[in-house]
Amino acid sequence: MIIELKNIYKNFGAVQALTDVSFSIGEAEIHGLLGENGAGKSTLMNILGGVLPPTSGTIVIDGTSYTHLTPHQAVELGISFIHQELNLVNDLKVFENLFINRELTKSKIFLNKKEMIRKSHEVFKRMNIDIDPTLFVRELDTLEKQLVEIARAILFESKLIIMDEPTTALTDKEINNLFTIMRELKKNGISCIYISHKMPELFVICDKYTVLRDGKFIDSGFFKDINENKATELLVGRKIIEDKDIHRNQLDTEIVFEVQDLSCPPYFNNINFNVKKGEVVAITGLFGDGRGELSEALFGARKVSSGKVLKNGKQLNLSSIKSVMKSGVGMIPRNRKERSIIKDMNILNNVSIAHFTSQHKKILIKNKEEIERFEKNQKVTNIKVGSPKDPITSLSGGNQQKVIFARWFELDSDVYLLDNPTQGIDVGAKFEIYKLINYLAEQGKSIIVFSSEFPEIYKVCHRCIIMYRGEINKIFKHDELNEVDMMFYSTGSNKKE
Ligand SMILES: Nc1ncnc2c1ncn2[C@@H]1O[C@H](COP(=O)(O)OP(=O)(O)OP(=O)(O)O)[C@@H](O)[C@H]1O
Ligand SMILES: [Mg+2]
Repeated sequence: MIIELKNIYKNFGAVQALTDVSFSIGEAEIHGLLGENGAGKSTLMNILGGVLPPTSGTIVIDGTSYTHLTPHQAVELGISFIHQELNLVNDLKVFENLFINRELTKSKIFLNKKEMIRKSHEVFKRMNIDIDPTLFVRELDTLEKQLVEIARAILFESKLIIMDEPTTALTDKEINNLFTIMRELKKNGISCIYISHKMPELFVICDKYTVLRDGKFIDSGFFKDINENKATELLVGRKIIEDKDIHRNQLDTEIVFEVQDLSCPPYFNNINFNVKKGEVVAITGLFGDGRGELSEALFGARKVSSGKVLKNGKQLNLSSIKSVMKSGVGMIPRNRKERSIIKDMNILNNVSIAHFTSQHKKILIKNKEEIERFEKNQKVTNIKVGSPKDPITSLSGGNQQKVIFARWFELDSDVYLLDNPTQGIDVGAKFEIYKLINYLAEQGKSIIVFSSEFPEIYKVCHRCIIMYRGEINKIFKHDELNEVDMMFYSTGSNKKE
């Protein structure tokens, strides 16, 4: 299948999301679509997937021209779209989701459940994953949901699969799994459009690239002809100058946050560490390290079996999120899509929600005050919005993440738990988030960053805790930290004989 998008324009009211963009993809091609947050990637793919009509322009598929596609047409043509925001029905079972709108029937009347379950097992086996098709989707974690979406595309032998940031919630092992599947599909003539902010991944899996910037086509070509620096430059339209040496001296300040013998079997055991005023402590590890559960427990979102957490010498009540928030601890959870964004609310209310939950004392909400607070934090976080009253879903992924940051700035928390804070965020915005973290540290805040990306950890932390199977395996000071040692302790190599 050969697809060409020609001279596509798209505007949402006054927002010009795409201006004269052309894009093409051939058979058996993995094509990376690159661009900063808000560049127009999802919008362009929504047009190809029939979710949105273009304002003008043409879609040409194997020689036939269309002014727009309906979702049904796109599916009929063999285009599958795995959306950036997950798109499953929680109250249906896994196999029902896989076959939604394409149910198998017996004598055209009865649903052929048995056959659907058998085929579901088959596709999971092919993907080398272990999910029970008869579970309800709501019982799955985000990662499994993502895999179900991918399975759905594979199941129906699509000719083109569009993947909008498919790996944000996946571990390295699962990403490799996915890449194996993609290569397999490619051998069968199937193409993929792959949207990601992770440069190394793009270079590993994609043949061709197309770069969008501010809704305009910038460049297209082969990955083998460029390097990461060149790609970054195309993306942001300027050279990024990194703060070379962030000096991370050993801090000699008071301890603000102290974790003592915290356990929550089977996830983590006997966790002891502290964070000083103005200090950034990174916590890292590999799949199964218990770090995700630890972050939840510290925020009062997961019950612990023993141990305690002190803030400024006072014990936190870990049995309630609200009480942890009130004690001045803010949390940016991983998986923004599922955990933080309240889709039915506008941008402004999404920012204010924490403030109203924990600090607001008056009965009435003063609109003017709310807007003033928002604008102050919008400046710090650099959120790009039309109007704060627009729906949160109208923001690009990266800008949504900044909204979550703004939420905690409103509370002026002293301790910040940041779980995977740059997930789905473009390179340019990542630097802004690092600057934000540095800014917070300079203000004397204490910060815990849960992350698995070495460059990110190196850039922000004073100390790095490496977890292995639910225990602290090693703590490095910033200057002792390097990627090889981080891997060594993350894989528990020191424990193997
Ligand atoms: N439904 C909508 N209503 C109003 N504006 C929208 C809508 N959808 C997208 N936009 C705007 O169009 C522009 C492009 O957004 P898009 O979601 O395509 O970006 P993106 O490249 O996918 O970014 P990200 O990497 O953050 O996901 C942004 O300015 C966004 O705010
Ligand atoms: Mg997007």
